[in-house]
Amino acid sequence: MIQRIGVVGAGTMGNGIAQVFAQAGFVVRLIDAVPAALERARGTIEKSLTKFVEKGRLTAADREAALAHLSIGTNLDELADVDYVIEAIAEQAEAKAGVFTRLDAITRPHVILASNTSSISITVLGAATARPDRVLGMHFMNPVPLMSLVELIRGQATSAESMLTATNLCMQLGKTAVEAADYPGFIANRILMPMINEAIYAVMEGVGTPEAIDTVMKLGMNHPMGPLTLADFIGLDVCLAILDVLHQGLGDPKYRPCPLLRRMVAAGHFGRKSGRGFYSY
Ligand code: CAA
Repeated sequence: MIQRIGVVGAGTMGNGIAQVFAQAGFVVRLIDAVPAALERARGTIEKSLTKFVEKGRLTAADREAALAHLSIGTNLDELADVDYVIEAIAEQAEAKAGVFTRLDAITRPHVILASNTSSISITVLGAATARPDRVLGMHFMNPVPLMSLVELIRGQATSAESMLTATNLCMQLGKTAVEAADYPGFIANRILMPMINEAIYAVMEGVGTPEAIDTVMKLGMNHPMGPLTLADFIGLDVCLAILDVLHQGLGDPKYRPCPLLRRMVAAGHFGRKSGRGFYSY
């Protein structure tokens, strides 16, 4: 039975993932090499839980219980006794593969090692371990506490049993799991990123202002956020990294990242997190 969850990486996604597991009653250990990132993550989780209490979606006792389920640490070795791990470090293939090799050595052999990667190959991460049948993708959407989808990615060697375990966990979190095959970008980013990229081409070519493009997609297509607001929210550096994976992995020029996106990232205009992207924050 899965009770103890290890989460590696305390960034936006890692802290959201830790929160939803803690809220669902799992014992969660959140690991990050940087103590300040862990403190920030705890603060973010506390704020999010407080928001849910204010909205009547959670009782104050549930909030306290969730916080009591959560512990933080800086060393991967602290995951030796967990039942399931989700890695959510930065989107760098070599760094992720290195974490998987270490997790393979640290955790017990039957434990499933999942990655929250948005586009890196699960098969490659599985090959960095001696348990590729127990490596899969568990791709949450941002903001994790609000979004009900989890994309589950089956690598070349992932077993049906591992996929079933992950699907059941998603149900326990109150989220809907959708299975995707291990091709670049899986389903979510295979479709989302070309839309965002096209919106950036439309800005570059002067088809419309960012405000005009976002308004068309919000009011015309009922999207909750326009594609440029969403790109700023995801992070323009993250969007570029995913488009590079699609372009390289699929080899089709339709996925080439827009030069304006490259230029904005080169300038350090990463969107909301840097205070400037298509909009100012
Ligand atoms: N925890 C708790 N509450 C939160 C929260 C969190 N983490 N984040 C936001 N909220 C609250 C807000 O504070 C707000 O509360 P109030 O109503 O009291 O102000 C409430 O949720 C609603 O937020 P907003 O007012 O900002 O309004 P919204 O109706 O636009 O909802 C949203 C926000 C759910 C994010 C919505 O805009 C949305 O669905 N946007 C699209 C998100 C999306 O596409 N995500 C996927 C990104 S792609 C990805 O993640 C994968 C990848 O690989 C790149």
